[in-house]
Amino acid sequence: MLAGFSAIWLAVIANETSHLFMPENSLNENAQGEETFGYPIEVPEGFGAGVLEESLEPVLIDIKPLLALASVEQGMKVARKCQSCHSFDKGGKNGTGPNLHNIVGAVVSEKNRGGYKLSASLMSGVDIWTYDNLNAYLENPKSLAPQGNMNFAGLRKPKDRANIIKFLMDKTEEPPEVLLDEINKAEEGS
Ligand code: HEC
Repeated sequence: MLAGFSAIWLAVIANETSHLFMPENSLNENAQGEETFGYPIEVPEGFGAGVLEESLEPVLIDIKPLLALASVEQGMKVARKCQSCHSFDKGGKNGTGPNLHNIVGAVVSEKNRGGYKLSASLMSGVDIWTYDNLNAYLENPKSLAPQGNMNFAGLRKPKDRANIIKFLMDKTEEPPEVLLDEINKAEEGS
């Protein structure tokens, strides 16, 4: 009985988490243009999703392997969603949000953004704009700065986040290297 239970448990966990490690091109779009995964996820009846929600922390897909495939041009399109609040070029004005020139790898500091007053929540939630922090913040700004001031719903698609980060790298004079072994590690799913 116990063994059988564990087997189901493992199967469910594998089903629930495997998509997190699948490359973007294995995602399909359904008629509504929403992403679905390549196969249906079957959860045995009565085996409540509530149990899974409680026991599994949401895991964010590793963005580094996707950066290798991302494009500055596509990122420029995503950047239209940021433009009402942010400028990206050197010397660009701060608006509702700070200028984002040289943001990749930057230490979170008001000195970097011409004195733009960042929220206490963001200042204490993020130290450096690593690729992982950018990925998390752009997926959901509240995840790193719960009381932060960026009124933006977030970019749900990993591909959009990879492209906008690639665009931000292009607007950064010396973006930190994305190490090859980090990419390999992530691709192995470890
Ligand atoms: C409605 C306005 C608005 C939109 C749209 C918006 N942002 Fe922001 N953003 C802000 C504000 C305001 C802050 C400062 C947040 C704080 O202090 O908590 C911020 C902060 C940031 C920071 C941190 C800056 C720093 O100095 O540390 C990054 C990175 C960022 N935004 C990226 C983006 C990107 C990329 C997009 C588009 C995908 C975007 N934002 C869309 C308003 C916006």
